[in-house]
Amino acid sequence: MTVRIGVIGTGNMGADHIRNLQRFVAGAAVTVVADYDRATAEAVAAASGARVASDGDALIADPEVDAVIIASHDSTHYAYALAAVAAGKPTLCEKPLAPTLAECEEIVAAEAAAGGNLLSLGFMRRFDPAHTELKAAIDAGVIGPVLRVTGASRNVVSYPGTTSESIITNSVIHELDSIPWLLGSPVSSVAWLAGRATSTVPAGLADPSLTLLRTADGVLTSVDMYVNAEYGYDLRTEVLGEKGALSLTDPALVAVDLGRNRSTGYPLDWRPRFADAYRLELGAWVASVAAGAPSPLASAADGLAASRVAVAVITSMHEGGRWVEVAR
Ligand code: NAI
Repeated sequence: MTVRIGVIGTGNMGADHIRNLQRFVAGAAVTVVADYDRATAEAVAAASGARVASDGDALIADPEVDAVIIASHDSTHYAYALAAVAAGKPTLCEKPLAPTLAECEEIVAAEAAAGGNLLSLGFMRRFDPAHTELKAAIDAGVIGPVLRVTGASRNVVSYPGTTSESIITNSVIHELDSIPWLLGSPVSSVAWLAGRATSTVPAGLADPSLTLLRTADGVLTSVDMYVNAEYGYDLRTEVLGEKGALSLTDPALVAVDLGRNRSTGYPLDWRPRFADAYRLELGAWVASVAAGAPSPLASAADGLAASRVAVAVITSMHEGGRWVEVAR
């Protein structure tokens, strides 16, 4: 069976998902696209052979759409996720699930009332080969009990309009899902700190910043986030255990030997680093939709859990960096 997919939002992520579906995922066809910016949708439709719907709601209702991808702006996820659930169509919603906790809770309740297993969240690290190997090594006890996790995440430049809070809900949110997933333990308390900010951002924007996460099993994780790092997209994670340490290493790159120096480049953004993760995530999602099987992706409940942690981090930010318990 071919799964006919409609993609809402044909910006960076939507266009990337469409290319990946067409090139790498068997049994998937992108039939309809929609974007608030019609010219963008038409350009992507022309390149992919899809049809353009008048808007996201029309796409969800379209009889030639079996399953939906929501890759539009964060602020649109709530309404589209609810509409997709009401239509009973399996949906892959990009992170975050919705901008507020109340909206996330409403979506989770609506999905449960509709019988569940409709919504999947785009926390693609769960499909990244390096992250899955890291989790397998932790689970196998290779380094003994985990004591600490140290992470650093750096982007080249932030989006216009970025705030200290949106750095948490948009960027750090990946760690808020991946750390409890890696450790198999939910985040129970958090703290947020910042020191000197880079001179390249408007006054008041806390960049870089440090988020501390304590999981229910007692492991302390530090996430050093810097979204205007300029030098390149750079993700580092070290898991320290009683007997040893596990670190993510850079994916294989081409080294340039020149003028008595050896160098490798940094990507401009996260897409090359997670190219395999996106393909594997899309492949697993389409296979589960085709089989009518439970989705192996992060769930709406996982999206809600990550958003609960994000709210606690922002509370700490607004209250002098104190430790804040995560609401359950
Ligand atoms: P983008 O700005 O490149 O594209 C967003 C598109 O949504 C734009 O073309 C815009 O016109 C469209 N749009 C806005 N309102 C709309 C509406 N009401 N209906 C239909 N289309 C609408 O942004 P990008 O980077 O592609 O991000 C899209 C989503 O993916 C965001 O929610 C973002 O947080 C998420 N994301 C996920 C990543 C991941 O690794 N899983 C990485 C980057 C983004």
